[in-house]
Amino acid sequence: MSFTIAITGKGGVGKTTVSGLVVSRLIAGNRRPVLAVDADPNTCLDTVLGISLKQTIGSAREEARIIAGKGMGAGISKQEMLEIKIAESLVEGADFDFLAMGRPEGPGCYCYANNVLRTALEKIAHHYPWIVIDNEAGLENLSRRLSQKVDVLVMVADPSRRGLETLRRLHALAREMEVSYGKLALVVNRLRHDQLPDELDAIRRETGADYVLALPDNAEVAALGERGGPIAELPAENELVKRVDGFLKTITD
Ligand SMILES: Nc1ncnc2c1ncn2[C@@H]1O[C@H](COP(=O)(O)OP(=O)(O)OP(=O)(O)O)[C@@H](O)[C@H]1O
Ligand SMILES: [Mg+2]
Repeated sequence: MSFTIAITGKGGVGKTTVSGLVVSRLIAGNRRPVLAVDADPNTCLDTVLGISLKQTIGSAREEARIIAGKGMGAGISKQEMLEIKIAESLVEGADFDFLAMGRPEGPGCYCYANNVLRTALEKIAHHYPWIVIDNEAGLENLSRRLSQKVDVLVMVADPSRRGLETLRRLHALAREMEVSYGKLALVVNRLRHDQLPDELDAIRRETGADYVLALPDNAEVAALGERGGPIAELPAENELVKRVDGFLKTITD
């Protein structure tokens, strides 16, 4: 059975950075193989993980549609063709595999791409003891996408007053949309001092969060982001790496 960690939050707060760190530290801790899923149509996790992506679920689906439309692939049903194309879009690494939703191309909407991603996940999830899903901003798509259970739902926020307020809103939205999860983790990212905002205590109580993780604003991480380098390049003594290691130990022990 897989242990699934889904990362969410508003735009630009560090979801992909946290997702990349979680993938790379799971692997460093011998918790593998990992399936890394980029469920943001604006694919970014590939760069953070240092891999090159040939195809997304969105483009796989479009290719399958074109092939079926041309009457090619005789003897293969449209659904089977889609499954072949999805299998082709899985990037296989040494310690992890990677799947990206991408943008839906051609006719159809995001709901369709979401459905295809969900079906693909249902088919392959059992191969992976660890699954990490990086989401686009907000929770709207998360509830539609995940039919499988989420063991830890991670909500990332910046430390500003308004940023913290989004944790309340995300939690309310998660309840409203009946996103089911085992445990809830609140991550406050880019802290400029070591003190967690007072408001967080109240938010933790109100949301019933099981874990709180504070991540400092870190020059090495910022520099890596600027040059688009892979997160695995961060040294083991980097503060974010150490804190994510501690967090993973807590949630998986
Ligand atoms: N703790 C940190 N210290 C320094 N820089 C950080 C930190 N966390 C994230 N960043 C930088 O902030 C920028 C945004 O981070 P990231 O792309 O992870 O956010 P996101 O929430 O995934 O954004 P989006 O909503 O666009 O998907 C990146 O350039 C990243 O390198
Ligand atoms: Mg992102």
